[in-house]
Amino acid sequence: MSSNRIRRIAISTGGGDAPGLNAVIRSVVLSALGLGWECFGIRDGFNGIFFPQRYPQGGLIRLERENVRGIGNVGGTILGTTNSGNPLRFPATMPDGSVVEQDRRADILNFFSHHQLDALITIGGDGTLTIGNALHESGLVVIGVPKTIDNDLDKTNTTFGFDTAVSFATECIDRLHSTAQSHHRVIVVEVMGRYAGWIALHSGIAADAHCILIPEIQVDLERVVEKINEREAYGRLYSIVVVAEGTAINGKGRSLAAEAEAGGVERLGGIGARVAQMLHDRTGKDTRTVVLGHLLRGGTPTAFDRLAATRFGTAAVRALAAGKSGVMVALAFPNVNYVPLDQVAGRMKLVPLDGDTLQAGRDMGICFGD
Ligand code: F6P
Repeated sequence: MSSNRIRRIAISTGGGDAPGLNAVIRSVVLSALGLGWECFGIRDGFNGIFFPQRYPQGGLIRLERENVRGIGNVGGTILGTTNSGNPLRFPATMPDGSVVEQDRRADILNFFSHHQLDALITIGGDGTLTIGNALHESGLVVIGVPKTIDNDLDKTNTTFGFDTAVSFATECIDRLHSTAQSHHRVIVVEVMGRYAGWIALHSGIAADAHCILIPEIQVDLERVVEKINEREAYGRLYSIVVVAEGTAINGKGRSLAAEAEAGGVERLGGIGARVAQMLHDRTGKDTRTVVLGHLLRGGTPTAFDRLAATRFGTAAVRALAAGKSGVMVALAFPNVNYVPLDQVAGRMKLVPLDGDTLQAGRDMGICFGD
């Protein structure tokens, strides 16, 4: 579709929320209104399309300047989001009660044509951008914006949300030093990140953790025990262990809080308590667990994330104006660029084992369990 046909665009936020989503929505709306376009928001991912009756104002809401006033520094998303009900694998209950997965992308295409929407700006992580790519391949004009606190999206230096999550985790770990030290305890801090260890690595180094356990490194807990005992030997009677939720310990499986339901993904969680118990059993030390969990997703975005979000949103509108589709806006310091969605969909950016950040941690004497 050529740029001069863009008149009405829709924005959707999908997957887990991340600080900065509202700043993207705001920047898309303000820059699109500046071009004379009309803007709409789809509620709760694509649920506004599938279940319009759920929403008193309808599943599609018009976004004017006043809808986005003052939201740039507010966490969450004014549109709502969901990380279940993937439209490509949408759960449908059959007459016999069984649940099957259906591809509902045709419903989305019909919705866009019915409402005369020319393009979609979809803001999300791997799952959402994979859906965006499928919609683009089915003929919709789509621009993706990378979001996740996990920082596990490929082809962009970083995603918005990550800096806020790392900053908050760092503050929390800072606070745990004094109480762990006062009680001579081992405190295990579990952080989010899914299958990647970015949040654990960055916050753990920033906050002087003694051990950092991440999914990318095969962890032998005896190494952690040795580190704690070594600290004891020279009079450091406390230790802080940061563990990413997706880490597998001693070659055992990941710790799951819940199996995946139809159209959804498995939920990770519980590894912190397991590590704390194992360390207590092996060292005899008093141990405690702190799970930062969804605290990492809330709150006001940092200046870095607000700026990244604003650059992404405005660049997404510029991409549409230039006639692009099927691309994701990416950060390629010092600028933004555009990468094909099919190079992002279904890929995961893990912590590189030869990267200097990990090496910095090793040089500082941090134990990574290997
Ligand atoms: O992808 C973001 C994230 O917060 C992950 O770090 C975490 O595993 C997951 O979402 C939790 O999702 P939910 O909102 O379903 O608990």
